[in-house]
Amino acid sequence: MTEERDALIAELVAPVRGEGALGHQLLRRVLVRELTVSGLPVLAADLAALPALIRLDLSAAVVEDVEALADLDVRVLVLNAGQGDRCASRTACPARGGAARGRRPAGRRPRLVHLAWGRTMNVDQGNTAQLEAWNGPRGAFWADNLARFERCVARYLDHLMAAAAITPTDHVLDIGCGGGQTTREAARRGASALGVDLSEPMLAMARRAGGDDVEFVRADAQIHPFPERRFDVAISRHGTMFFGDPVAAFANIASALKDGGRLALITWQPLERNEFLTAFRAALAGGRALPVPPDDAPSPFALSRPERVHHILGAAGFVDVEMSALSEPMDFGDDDAYDFIADHYGDIADGLDDDAKARAFAALRESVEAHRTEDGVRYGSAAWLITARRRAS
Ligand SMILES: C[S@@+](CC[C@H](N)C(=O)[O-])C[C@H]1O[C@@H](n2cnc3c(N)ncnc32)[C@H](O)[C@@H]1O
Repeated sequence: MTEERDALIAELVAPVRGEGALGHQLLRRVLVRELTVSGLPVLAADLAALPALIRLDLSAAVVEDVEALADLDVRVLVLNAGQGDRCASRTACPARGGAARGRRPAGRRPRLVHLAWGRTMNVDQGNTAQLEAWNGPRGAFWADNLARFERCVARYLDHLMAAAAITPTDHVLDIGCGGGQTTREAARRGASALGVDLSEPMLAMARRAGGDDVEFVRADAQIHPFPERRFDVAISRHGTMFFGDPVAAFANIASALKDGGRLALITWQPLERNEFLTAFRAALAGGRALPVPPDDAPSPFALSRPERVHHILGAAGFVDVEMSALSEPMDFGDDDAYDFIADHYGDIADGLDDDAKARAFAALRESVEAHRTEDGVRYGSAAWLITARRRAS
């Protein structure tokens, strides 16, 4: 068994030794980011050789040295209850909120550790893929880069708030609230605001930021039993395009609104109107025709076609549906903008051979440099502001 374990560790650690000809940026992309160990006895001390794991699931493994979990550099750590109990020291164990101070290399950002044991939630079958994604590497990456993501879409915030017309007596529901920026903005206007999201890493960031009169709940907005007719307004910035059954989801949201209650959403316009994505895809495609994300299934473009939006919201019990086209620049940051974009969109280059990949990332860098302004790297984007009211019953 020890041999088997050593072979596993050797196999996992091998790719991170030495820098390949493609350079650091590409090398980072092949590092092991997610690892589930089941059945095998594991020494946490061995796993410490794996740098910057995004998600480590040890819930089905036999961890022989639970105390050494404190040395792991991992953002999402999944343990089972027995392991958590054995790791009795709250200050040393990352799973119990301990920071393992002094052992982490200087300058590394604090780890966000999510403890998953014993937690369950109801998710519609059609939303399980989103649950996995937003609680897996995608959610961890978003949480880790939250300030950047919020900066990218910051210019849509005022449009959303103006349309929502929130007053101090309002109860506000923020759907797919992510790190909670829009929820806090609603509460800043005096309202009480509830943010719901599927993603534990994002909600952890939201809770960490705190705020008066805000509450965050982990829930699938499509099926969560919200109190009937509780809210005056439901808002969302890019959080409503991922429902497996959008009519059911918006009907559920409608039932949580008072009669005449307001809906204000920001969603993306079609792909071809979003310069940032067309530019990244063009660079990283390396000449291939890439599949286009669907506009009639969960994807950033699921609410990009006006006739579909009108159909969904009408069927879900909304009236006075209006869509205004918005076009705003997206700010990707300054010196490290390229690294962020390459990290976030680099998967598009998967499938290219090494030379083609190197050329694709060079093309991406060229595009980023061409979009550098004195205020940082900036690309165009296009969104819809969608407003509607719950039909009075
Ligand atoms: C693109 S992010 C937007 C986050 C945030 N609204 C913002 O503006 O920064 C989309 C969010 O929708 C959430 N989401 C997707 N499907 C959901 C569902 N069925 N119920 C609740 N949240 C969902 C994801 O977890 C994710 O946090």
